[in-house]
Amino acid sequence: MAGSRSSSQVRLMAFIGFLFALFATGSSTAQVPLLIWSSDGLPPLASSSAGHITSKDQLTAYLTSAFGSGPHTVLLFLQDKLSKDDFTVYGGAFGNKQDSAFQNLEAALQSSSSSVTLPALEWSSSTAILSLLQEKLGVSPLLVDADTLSHLSINTSASNLLLINLPYCTGSQKSCKEVLHDNDETIGKVLNMMKAKNVPYTAIYTGLQPSRVISETSVSNQPVGRSLLQAAETTVKPPIMFNMSGSTCIMLWAQNLSISTNNTWVDLATQTPSLSGSMCNTSNSLLILSYSSGITLRFAMSQRLYPVSARNWFTLDSVELQFGGQTASFIGSRGIYAPAEYSFHCQSVNSFQDALLVPNNTNQNTTQWRLNFVDFQIQGFGLSNGTNFSYASDCAGFFTPGIWMGLLTSLLMLYIFVYGLHMIMQLNTMDRFDDPKGPSISVPQTE
Ligand SMILES: *[C@@H]1O[C@H](CO)[C@@H](O)[C@H](O)[C@H]1NC(C)=O
Ligand SMILES: *[C@@H]1O[C@H](CO)[C@@H](O)[C@H](O)[C@H]1NC(C)=O
Ligand SMILES: *[C@@H]1O[C@H](CO)[C@@H](O)[C@H](O)[C@H]1NC(C)=O
Ligand SMILES: *[C@@H]1O[C@H](CO)[C@@H](O)[C@H](O)[C@H]1NC(C)=O
Ligand SMILES: *[C@@H]1O[C@H](CO)[C@@H](O)[C@H](O)[C@H]1NC(C)=O
Ligand SMILES: *[C@@H]1O[C@H](CO)[C@@H](O)[C@H](O)[C@H]1NC(C)=O
Repeated sequence: MAGSRSSSQVRLMAFIGFLFALFATGSSTAQVPLLIWSSDGLPPLASSSAGHITSKDQLTAYLTSAFGSGPHTVLLFLQDKLSKDDFTVYGGAFGNKQDSAFQNLEAALQSSSSSVTLPALEWSSSTAILSLLQEKLGVSPLLVDADTLSHLSINTSASNLLLINLPYCTGSQKSCKEVLHDNDETIGKVLNMMKAKNVPYTAIYTGLQPSRVISETSVSNQPVGRSLLQAAETTVKPPIMFNMSGSTCIMLWAQNLSISTNNTWVDLATQTPSLSGSMCNTSNSLLILSYSSGITLRFAMSQRLYPVSARNWFTLDSVELQFGGQTASFIGSRGIYAPAEYSFHCQSVNSFQDALLVPNNTNQNTTQWRLNFVDFQIQGFGLSNGTNFSYASDCAGFFTPGIWMGLLTSLLMLYIFVYGLHMIMQLNTMDRFDDPKGPSISVPQTE
């Protein structure tokens, strides 16, 4: 009995080990955003990292140049969790600016003499940023909150690292937006206090860990694009590229680009379109795909500055389908947008089921027209490095395919585990019937 129990424990441990191994190998690339602003001035960031993941080495090099000489007072606002999606979801970027949960942060970024935004900083562990700053400044962090800071006298002839911990909304009674708004109030209070004390500072806002995990498929450190798919499928088609004055300015790729005007689906991704009429400039991009069957698809994109993130965002403003002299126009229902130097990726963009695109016209003749794009990726700005898509901003938000796979796998493992446990218990029970005429075995109560 004891033997069977310990062997079942071994099996249990093996199971748990296996589970961990599974999650470790299936882990996704994690990033956190990082914002730096300063009352003095910051060295410029090499622009090559825009739209890509900033590695830890790049950050180390940057902080070395920023904190190279003299004493610095650094405020580290370290939120339990943070992802760039938090800025898009709670930043009010596409709604009312008054609606933003980051008003103080936004004001600080705008009023500071210089600021640097790293939308995707490679994340390895929750202690990395703190130990990096500790090393660069040569001081230990001092944990403060707005109240203790008001009583603190700061010696500006030495370096100071002031750590302000901020909560995130998981498991909180308040809504996410309220928590982030409260954090923003704390940031505003602390910055005002520094101003009142007349202490020059450099502030950093980042997360202890990411609040969302982006699945590996949409992220790659290698030249980004379809290269991952290319490795898996040999017959992957090249993206549609529109060149203007010698360089690529719009790229589009889709597994299926299906349209229906008469209840019959036609997959346009199998045909080669003409791109005549397409254009792009710094604020607008228009991609016109004209097919020999008389069907035309127009993708209109624009980019503009949204102050909350102190950066440009691009939106896919409309998709138009023209056929037989009629036009059906579709617009993004939840906003199809990404940081301007990113690409936008969505596993499914359609106009009828959980629709990302909604019809935007009154033409009765086209109410039956449908769009269904599978594994769709588009980029209309910031294609600086030629023929590859930049880092993809995924429409799926939190529930990326990676997370779904993880969830389903863990449910399956749990089921197997419970089933295994059930079997082991069954086995123990069977021992009783070895000798049906003898007294039943009594198991001493150990727990
Ligand atoms: C401020 O720091 C410097 C350098 O560590 C030190 O020499 C000086 O005495 C400190 N001043 C006060 C008021 O603590
Ligand atoms: C567009 O430009 C890219 C390089 O930027 C080049 O590889 C491609 O062949 C060009 N396509 C056309 C149709 O000119
Ligand atoms: C994509 O289109 C092909 C035909 O071109 C079709 O066989 C396939 O089922 C489509 N895939 C999806 C997911 O709709
Ligand atoms: C539906 O329209 C497409 C073109 O959009 C055409 O090729 C196809 O033959 C039409 N099918 C029917 C059943 O009318
Ligand atoms: C870009 O093109 C759009 C549409 O043609 C035009 O309205 C806009 O003024 C242009 N912007 C610039 C900066 O050229
Ligand atoms: C709808 O179709 C009919 C017949 O094809 C045409 O006469 C009419 O002008 C169309 N309506 C619109 C708004 O295009």
